Amino acid sequence: MQIIHPLADMTRWSNEVIASGKTLALVPTMGYFHAGHLSLMRLAGRLADHVVVSLFVNSLQFGPREDLSGYPRDLERDARIAENERVDMLFVPTHEEMYSADFNSRVRVDGITDTLCGKQRPNHFEGVTTVVAKLFNIIKPHCAVFGQKDFQQLSVIRKMVSELNWDIEIFAHPIVREDDGLAMSSRNAYLSSEERGKALCLYNAIQHAKARFADGVCDTGQLKSEIRDIISANSGVSIDYISVVDKDTLSDKEVIDSQSVLALAIKVGGTRLIDNCFMGNDSEVSN
Ligand code: PAJ
Repeated sequence: MQIIHPLADMTRWSNEVIASGKTLALVPTMGYFHAGHLSLMRLAGRLADHVVVSLFVNSLQFGPREDLSGYPRDLERDARIAENERVDMLFVPTHEEMYSADFNSRVRVDGITDTLCGKQRPNHFEGVTTVVAKLFNIIKPHCAVFGQKDFQQLSVIRKMVSELNWDIEIFAHPIVREDDGLAMSSRNAYLSSEERGKALCLYNAIQHAKARFADGVCDTGQLKSEIRDIISANSGVSIDYISVVDKDTLSDKEVIDSQSVLALAIKVGGTRLIDNCFMGNDSEVSN
């Protein structure tokens, strides 16, 4: 595995791969790899001849009071981990190269970014789509892999790619979970052991919702109230949102059906955690 920092070197390498008739899959990340990231890398390895993993903690997608400075970073550890996967290139651009001092361009997807995390984190998705657009242009992948864990992010990227006519296929990977069900996240590293226990209410709420829907409960208000009770039973845990939305439009659903997604965001102490599930079936894959 090679590690590349300069943008021009990355593009030169990609051009050579493409000129040789080989295909390229991209896995964009902000690093501090966990098993979720590794599963995305493995899927990418099955989809293309070469795999590029980008590692860039993207300041544009963090709000002023968010965790940019404290976001876990350990390039040596990440390089060691990626080395054991079938990754050809770890692309680690510098902030200065990605965003010059007078950088003023933004890629924005309206509408579906106004809800869920977009409501809580203004400008977050604009930061995500801007960096992903840059990565697509620098790396020129044939396909890219994103996690279902960030369900809204995946929808926003798909819409951007379709509306801007990028010839890049977007693949979704199901949520990878710890043994007890907590969705893997780089931010889980922030949790104390007590908080880690409380964080499980997110998965418990999802399991409860699935069971209730299977039993015939499809009133969103009723289900939300039961989920609120499950989460609120934990002191020090606050709810950012509990939403049931259409899987494609992300508009709110009053009545839950097989096209619905339950999306949750909570804060455990100071740590913001998200999770989601399709109500229709057990599969969390959507490509
Ligand atoms: P990051 O949080 O590092 O996540 C990188 C990719 O891993 C995303 O596609 C995310 O959905 C996926 N992922 C994270 N946890 C996962 C889990 N438990 N199961 C499956 N997939 C998981 O998401 C970002 O970085 C950034 O917003 C990025 C797209 C790189 C743009 O900066």
